[in-house]
Order: sequence, then structure tokens, then C-alpha cells
Amino acid sequence: MDIHKYNIVFIIGAIYITFLEHHVSTLPAARQDTLESYSNSNIRSFKKALGYDEETYLNFTELATKYGYRTEEHTITTEDGYILKAFRILTNCQEPYKRPPVLLMHGVFDSSDVWIIAGKDIGIGYLLADYCYDVWALNHRGNKYSRKHVYYNPDTDMEFWNYSFDEHGNFDIPATIDYIIQVTKHKKLSYIGHSQGTTDFFAMASLKPEYNEKIRVSIQLAPVAWMTNIFNPILKVISPATHLLKIFLDSSGNSELLSENHLIQLMFEMLCQVVSKSFCISTLHATTGYEDGSIPTKTLVLAFSHVLSGTSSKSLAHFGQVIKSKHFQRYDEGTKGNVKRYGTPTPPKYNVSLITSPVVLICAENDWVSSLKDIDILSSKLSNLVEKYVVPEPKWSHHNHVWSTKLPNYVFPKIIEYLDKFN
Ligand SMILES: *[C@@H]1O[C@H](CO)[C@@H](O)[C@H](O)[C@H]1NC(C)=O
Ligand SMILES: *[C@@H]1O[C@H](CO)[C@@H](O)[C@H](O)[C@H]1NC(C)=O
Ligand SMILES: *[C@@H]1O[C@H](CO)[C@@H](O)[C@H](O)[C@H]1NC(C)=O
Repeated sequence: MDIHKYNIVFIIGAIYITFLEHHVSTLPAARQDTLESYSNSNIRSFKKALGYDEETYLNFTELATKYGYRTEEHTITTEDGYILKAFRILTNCQEPYKRPPVLLMHGVFDSSDVWIIAGKDIGIGYLLADYCYDVWALNHRGNKYSRKHVYYNPDTDMEFWNYSFDEHGNFDIPATIDYIIQVTKHKKLSYIGHSQGTTDFFAMASLKPEYNEKIRVSIQLAPVAWMTNIFNPILKVISPATHLLKIFLDSSGNSELLSENHLIQLMFEMLCQVVSKSFCISTLHATTGYEDGSIPTKTLVLAFSHVLSGTSSKSLAHFGQVIKSKHFQRYDEGTKGNVKRYGTPTPPKYNVSLITSPVVLICAENDWVSSLKDIDILSSKLSNLVEKYVVPEPKWSHHNHVWSTKLPNYVFPKIIEYLDKFN
């Protein structure tokens, strides 16, 4: 019996424990206290005492500073009131070598940290800054850095968690593009997405096609739009029931999933750090197909401290709907809700033919989330596809694009080729 099967059992058990944990701390006051004490110095002292690598609890700014990069923190407020955090890595290059801004968008449950945890010489955020680009790494609404709203309280207002990649595309990304354009005085920027960060872009550029004017080129790592041929066993099993799962999660007060310093995230982290590093490896295998051994153990351990950064149950439910319906479509609010929201009884489909800006797709044969067959559906509909590049390594998978030691040989040259070409 291989360790991967145990892992799936563990993940399901972990979901169950989330509920238990919630019921132990349901009292709003108690809950708020717990969150307070969870998040800051107490947790750090605890992790220090257990001997965790300090990089597991450093934030983006602290990590980048440690590696000698100058950074800035920016706060962006969306049209619908979410307060987002973007980190900027300043290049040390001088004029006339400085290159234009690039917006980096992470995947689901993830954060801006995904672009730097692999460290100097692998982290795409660092490599781009070394290459003279102006790097902006956004955090979408609801994750650990962007858990704020002008009037909703994420701890007590369910409304805060009423979003999926549709809102990232419709609000978070456009607000950030406009902000970067305003700050840098460049008229256009380039975009690099990973996983759901690509979905966000496809949603944006088809819902708000006027934003294509502001994009030089988008480079999509492990693109996700159609999900008919997904291989991820957990998503496959739960997708027919994500609607029920969401109702269950919402009614038990768990509209927020897998947030930082929640018991479940701490457990994942502890299992990797203290029990066995192979736990990290097999979890990544069970969810994305990873197996080639090219992601350093240190990166994997850091990943389980940084990537579980929280999102809404609706985000998961939206992917479930895309899998089940076999369409890349907007969120299904139910017949009545759809009429109210979209004016039609069924949710509209995203029309990716409206994406007129140049798109580069970077894909992998062994990716259980972003399958080549689904990418074929997407690429047949894109109107300005520049290249669909399949990394020539049969075991390349979902996170190899962002963490593999071989990323500088395969992925980064493609990124630079197209960023430079469209400058
Ligand atoms: C990151 O850590 C630094 C140093 O402790 C702190 O000043 C900054 O506010 C933190 N940033 C975020 C977004 O948490
Ligand atoms: C969530 O937001 C959508 C879109 O704004 C809206 O149509 C829907 O009614 C909201 N759902 C809830 C439960 O508030
Ligand atoms: C999608 O957009 C294309 C390009 O503008 C258009 O020709 C097509 O009719 C649209 N499809 C739908 C279903 O609206």
C-alpha cells in the first residue's frame, strides 16, 4: 500500500478536523482571540521552539530582504471594497536597462510567496528582478495578505467570502493593472499567472476585454480553464458534490478554507517539518502528480508553510462546477440567483475568443490539474495564441513550473523570450 493512499485519507480526515476545530471555537469572541494569538509573535515563538527553519514564517518582504532584494508593499482597493496587498521587487538595474512591469498572479490557496520560496536563482520573482524587470506579485482577495475589506469583517461577515476566480478576474486583477499603470507611468504591463492565476486572467480578459489593451503579453504556467480531463483524484471525487460541500461548509461557518495558521495548515506544516519530509512530497503527488524529484526538499517544506494561505469555499465550488458542467463558465448561483445576477437562468460562459492580447501557454505532460487535453480545448478557442509550449520532460508537473531546480533551463528562457519580444 503506497503512502499516497494514506495521504488521501489524511486529507479527508483533515477536512473533518477543520469542522471539529471550528465547533470548538465557535464563539465569535473566542474565535477572534484565537486568530489574534495565532497569527503573530506567539506562533513564531512556537515554530522557533520546534526548530522550524525561519523561512517558514518570514513574510514576503522579510524573505526578499534576507536574499538582498529591495521591496515595497502596496495596498490596492478594488471597486467592491477588498483591500489587497501587492509586493514589488525593485530591480537593481539602472536606466536604460530597466524593463517594464510584470504582474505575477499565484494559484488557489496560494500567495505571492510562491514566486520566491524556491530562493535565489530559482524563484521567478528574483530571476525577473535580476533580469531588470519591475516585479509586482499580487495577493488575491481573502488570502493571508489580503484578508481585509473596507466594511466587511472576514471573521464575522459571510459576505466577505462570497467570491471565486470570477471576482479575481472581474475586480482584483483590473484594479491592480490600473494601479501599476498609475504608479509606474507605463501604459502596458506583462502578466504571468500560475494555475488559478491563469484562470483569473482568462476570466478578466473575456469579461473586461478592454483590459487586453493594457497587456503586452500574458504567460500562463499550468493553465486552467476547461477541466474536463482533470486527473486530480480528490477534485474528481468531490467535484459532483462541491455544491453540497459548500452549503455544508457555509452552514458550519467554514466559508474560509485552509487559511494560514489555521489548525489544518499548522498540521500540514508540522507533519512535513517534524514527522517526515516525505509527507510533503506525497501530498504534492496526490494532488498534482509531482514525482520527478527536482523540487528541493527545502522548497517543499517552505511550500507547506506558505502556500496554504486561504481562500473561500466558493472558489473550490466554482472549480467543481467547471469540472461537472464541462464548460468554462461563470459561477452557477442556481436558477433564481442566475436570473438575478446574469439575467439568464444558466450561468454565461467565458468567451475566451475575446482575449485579443498575446497569450503563451506553458504546460506539462504529467500535470494532474492542468491536462494537455483541456489545454487543447482552450488553445483551439484563443484568438491570439503565440505558443503552446510543453516542457520536454515527461514527469514535469504543476509546481515544477515555479519550484523545480530545472526551471531556469526550461521555463525561464521561454518567459524571457516572450517578455523581451513584446517589450
Ligand atoms: C512583513 O514583515 C515586516 C517586518 O516584520 C513588517 O514590517 C511588515 O509589515 C510585514 N508585512 C506584511 C504584509 O505582513
Ligand atoms: C454573491 O455575490 C453574487 C454576485 O455579486 C450575488 O449575485 C449573490 O447573490 C451573492 N450571494 C450571496 C449569498 O450573498
Ligand atoms: C465570442 O466572441 C467572438 C469574438 O468576438 C464572437 O465572434 C462570438 O460570437 C462570441 N461567442 C459568444 C458565444 O458570444
